[in-house]
Amino acid sequence: MQLFRASIAHFPKPTMQFTDDIAIFKDGGLLIDGKEIIDIGPFKEIAERFPAAKVTDLAGKWILPGLIDSHLHYPQTQSIAHYGEQLLSWLENYTFPTEMQFADSEHAHTVATVFLNQLMRNGTTTGFVFTTVHKACCQALFSAASDIDMAIVAGKVCMDRNCPSELSDSAETAQADSAQLIETWHNKGRNRYALTPRFAPTSTPAQLAALGELAKQYSDVFIQTHLSENLDEIAWVKRLFPSADGYLDVYDTYNLVRERAVFGHGIHLTPNEWARLGESGATVAFCPTSNLFLGSGLFDMTAARANKVHVAMATDVGAGTTFNMFKTYGDAYKVSQLQNAPISPLEGFYLMTQGAAVAHGLDHEIGNLNPGSTADFIVVEPRFDELTQLRIKEDAEFDDVFFALSMLGDDRAIDQTWISGICRHRKEKSE
Ligand code: GUN
Ligand code: ZN
Repeated sequence: MQLFRASIAHFPKPTMQFTDDIAIFKDGGLLIDGKEIIDIGPFKEIAERFPAAKVTDLAGKWILPGLIDSHLHYPQTQSIAHYGEQLLSWLENYTFPTEMQFADSEHAHTVATVFLNQLMRNGTTTGFVFTTVHKACCQALFSAASDIDMAIVAGKVCMDRNCPSELSDSAETAQADSAQLIETWHNKGRNRYALTPRFAPTSTPAQLAALGELAKQYSDVFIQTHLSENLDEIAWVKRLFPSADGYLDVYDTYNLVRERAVFGHGIHLTPNEWARLGESGATVAFCPTSNLFLGSGLFDMTAARANKVHVAMATDVGAGTTFNMFKTYGDAYKVSQLQNAPISPLEGFYLMTQGAAVAHGLDHEIGNLNPGSTADFIVVEPRFDELTQLRIKEDAEFDDVFFALSMLGDDRAIDQTWISGICRHRKEKSE
């Protein structure tokens, strides 16, 4: 058994909506045994209860739950940060050509490794990940994540129209390939499958219907797609699905709006769509760096709260501009300031830990440091350079530490990343 001594913060309670009911232990102890968290509390109490545990002293650092990124694209690791386009031409000019390269499974394996390294060095221990249309691309990610026992939710992208022929499947092959991937990977180790129609414009009604059938047949799988990100996209959906009552209704028609469905963006939603998302138990992934980068718009967190919609924070790499979830909250804060409704640091932290875990129904395993959860946690070094040493006091409160790092931090603030009880990333001393 290993006992870590540090300042510790997490949200222990599985609340459906944010409350500031955070547990903070300034001189805390986290006890793990193998892959599991056994105990948490004031260091002295834990040390007395478990006198034989090996103690690791992390004075001056914070232990937090591993971070959850609820929407991103691993193939786009290599196409992050391209100048000058909004969504639809960005997809045509950068994204589709990049994704074509993943027909080569060796390339997929190479990028999967870089991608997981980027997650870990930024403190992310779970991702909801889009792959490409290629089955082998999805296999490469599950396989690489299995090697490090990381909890990953991922799926093969399905597209059977409005995309290059090299990236097109069909209603039948999307259904057969997705079913095969579910049988092979879903709930195997820490892997979970997400049915992944890219977005309504690239799927025919027949393909959405085929995926909706799978969503019924395998009712515990996740669903992930994009929703109401860009105004041209929304107008296009209207032309492609003239009988639908709006964008969300396209997915609803095909049984794709339910718990464990994660919709990326949701920027330009109507009041009816907000209400429907709230009653359905689905989740919206708030992707602020991406929404700013592509000029998509400002996410309305106030409407989400009012409609009791689950929200989870996400990078959306490669339209997102960073793998770092702290910085992602930093942009969410700026977006909320533009609407004169600032999202507090504690709410931001909740949306990438326990709030995301509850939204996805995974809070028994991730998102918190409760006994029984898996030992996925990070060690944060707040005062990692000259500027942060000046700005962040040694005895600073957690919300101030988190907020300052959301503006000033980067991967240098992540000292260690532990996954399933093993340290998988440790910052180099010279970094
Ligand atoms: N809509 C459809 N595909 C994509 C994608 O890859 N990224 C983003 N941001 N939006 C999308
Ligand atoms: Zn996306």
